[in-house]
Amino acid sequence: MPQCSHFPSCGGCTLQNLPYQEQLAQKQAAIQTLFPSALPIIPCDDPWHYRNKMEFSFSQNKAGEKFLGLVMRKSRGKVFHLHECLISPPWFSDMLATVRRWWENTDQAAYHFHHGTGTLRTLTIREGRHTGQKMVMLTVSGDPRFALTKPQIDSFVAAVGDPSISLFLRIQQCIPKQPTQFFEMHLSGPTHIEEHLHIEGQTLRFKISPSSFFQPNTLQAEKLYAAALHLAAPSSSMQVLDLYCGTATIGLTFASHVAHVSGIELNPYAVFDAKENAEINGISNFSIQRGDVGQLISSLPKPDLVIVDPPRPGLDAAALAGLQALRPSQIIYIACNPTTQAQNIAALSDYTVDAVQPVDQFPHTHHIENIVALRRH
Ligand SMILES: C[S@@+](CC[C@H](N)C(=O)[O-])C[C@H]1O[C@@H](n2cnc3c(N)ncnc32)[C@H](O)[C@@H]1O
Repeated sequence: MPQCSHFPSCGGCTLQNLPYQEQLAQKQAAIQTLFPSALPIIPCDDPWHYRNKMEFSFSQNKAGEKFLGLVMRKSRGKVFHLHECLISPPWFSDMLATVRRWWENTDQAAYHFHHGTGTLRTLTIREGRHTGQKMVMLTVSGDPRFALTKPQIDSFVAAVGDPSISLFLRIQQCIPKQPTQFFEMHLSGPTHIEEHLHIEGQTLRFKISPSSFFQPNTLQAEKLYAAALHLAAPSSSMQVLDLYCGTATIGLTFASHVAHVSGIELNPYAVFDAKENAEINGISNFSIQRGDVGQLISSLPKPDLVIVDPPRPGLDAAALAGLQALRPSQIIYIACNPTTQAQNIAALSDYTVDAVQPVDQFPHTHHIENIVALRRH
């Protein structure tokens, strides 16, 4: 029986009607259609309240009725009022109710995607699972006609009303035929949150800025990185490349086991966090370059091991060709989209699959995280 009152209309937990063991069996079967030799999927100890980050949307219908929540299943963007979410911490729903009350008392309109009108776009809520630190970010339109005024921003800060929360306003500027730009404005509380990861006897601390990526399920990220470490079995003389490294969570996990780790990351905020994270953890054999993997890869020194963890579309043609040309003896490919992962691996013709380890980061949803260890033949 699904436990959430929003099932099945919510587009989030589409598998919630199945017992957790059955969900795992379905995911195992799905991964085995791509990688027949996959090891048993690593489950969650507790498949509830696992997410450390959620993004909720503001929306209004033609009658002006206001909605703040998630997108309905098969609805092409129709948002419903979310009152509970059993895969995120309970305070996320409380914060949503607080912001909804603030919104009811303002004349701000939700951003309208097709017309480009209105102000309020999304509300991102985040926490450090091990630290309890909280972050809230309101994303608004970058169109100056719909900008929030200073008193409106102040009323938002007052409505959230908790000085311990790291509170941000983010302005999303969309100009036709140009990449979307984001500008962050710190409103109150700390400028970032911290998260800890406990992996194979080491505890690492991570600073996370509002726009930096962090694995959305902290407890499974610990298992994911431990499994990656186990599959790679690195030695102390190894030179390692951590591509798409984010805030350097994987790179810093590997650093104490190898000679040196070099990270590549596009997002400047994540690069900044990664540098500080190396420092906070007293790690001196990690370095990072900011840039596009596809553009930088041909200029990188030859490593022994490459770890790649790209976004859902996988490696682009330049990154794929560059990876082949680097000829590392081992590759650890971590993916949140096993389909593009399998396509990329099929193109890495000099490599054989050593091991495949799926990890269930997202119970009740169809998503699967997957690690593939490759060896050059
Ligand atoms: C799935 S996340 C993985 C981050 C990190 N490995 C971790 O486990 O937290 C993918 C990362 O790739 C970065 N990214 C996206 N496109 C990129 C590109 N073309 N070049 C470099 N980094 C990129 C994103 O900013 C994001 O931090």
